[in-house]
Amino acid sequence: MKAVVVNPPNAGVEVRDVPSEPPSQGKVLIRTRLNGLCGTDRGIVSGKLTFSRPPLGYNYLILGHETLGEVVEGNGRLRKGDLVVPVVRRGCGSCLNCNLGRQDFCETGNFTEIGIRGAHGTMREEFLDEERYLVKVPNSLGELGVLLEPLSNVVKALNEVEYVQRRMWWRCGDSTYSCMTAAVLGSGPIGLLFSLALKTMGFNVIVANRRPPSEVESEIVEGIDAKFVNTSEKVDIRPDLLVDTSGHPSAFIPVLPKMKKNGALILFGTTGNESYGMTAEDVTTLVENNILIVGSVNASKSDFEAGVNFLLNWKAKYANLLEKLITKRVKVEEAPDVLTRKLPGEIKTVIEWK
Ligand code: BGC
Ligand code: ZN
Repeated sequence: MKAVVVNPPNAGVEVRDVPSEPPSQGKVLIRTRLNGLCGTDRGIVSGKLTFSRPPLGYNYLILGHETLGEVVEGNGRLRKGDLVVPVVRRGCGSCLNCNLGRQDFCETGNFTEIGIRGAHGTMREEFLDEERYLVKVPNSLGELGVLLEPLSNVVKALNEVEYVQRRMWWRCGDSTYSCMTAAVLGSGPIGLLFSLALKTMGFNVIVANRRPPSEVESEIVEGIDAKFVNTSEKVDIRPDLLVDTSGHPSAFIPVLPKMKKNGALILFGTTGNESYGMTAEDVTTLVENNILIVGSVNASKSDFEAGVNFLLNWKAKYANLLEKLITKRVKVEEAPDVLTRKLPGEIKTVIEWK
């Protein structure tokens, strides 16, 4: 069958035939409908993501961790025709967090991630997976299900903040977040999904980038009643919650002194490549203001399930605004091209399998 194949840690990508997996008892057979592309995929293709590696015994890796699939042969609770999204990370098998289904908090680092490290991904015509790794998506969500994997990471990070912020009373007088501002640095798919989720939680949301918004970005930001700010101009952001999706320390460090007391900073982006230091004064600010910093990666199956509810809610509330996040659909033959460059005006590019 056709697959998008890489050879980490070497750069490069090709579409070629790979052998089908032998049928395995108890596994679910899934036909791939859509794959989303993200910075992680492009990092692997460019050879810059050094932790990427093929599965044991293979000299290649099938790419793909953002998936919407359709069950071909049911098993257990999954029926033929059901839409599913596989979780990305598979536990190390030895630590407590992995054994309790929280492989996103693996303690040993010996986990695998489909399409990223040590396990084949889903950029192929079909794949087999265990039911426990599959999240069922209501058919009414349709293609929007392809947004679930990136969204799951966002849901996890926000859960963590809400959990740790219980260190005090971190709400407004009316018990909501209506008096609080969340600033999201970066307006890519992750930045916009954070903005949508924060809006739903009740925050006032600012989406920031170092340039003016694209047309689609404006439509989405206005559509959800958030505000776009161009940080290359003079702006005064004073957030209670700061979310960095850029991976650029020069984007979030200058905002730290402006953060509200008892606030939180989520570090999510990893693709920056600059060296930009923190001063002792910044450290004092963080200490004196009780600022929480949380780095967050990956997500548990429960975060995917919570993400389904967000998607259903947004589909109902914002009509076709969500579809605008998918800015381009390509055939698998075009994958090598779109994996080696960021497209103009891109939010989410997806590969369509027919
Ligand atoms: C994926 C995560 C993964 C991370 C690091 C992201 O693109 O969405 O599931 O843990 O890359 O490999
Ligand atoms: Zn991704």
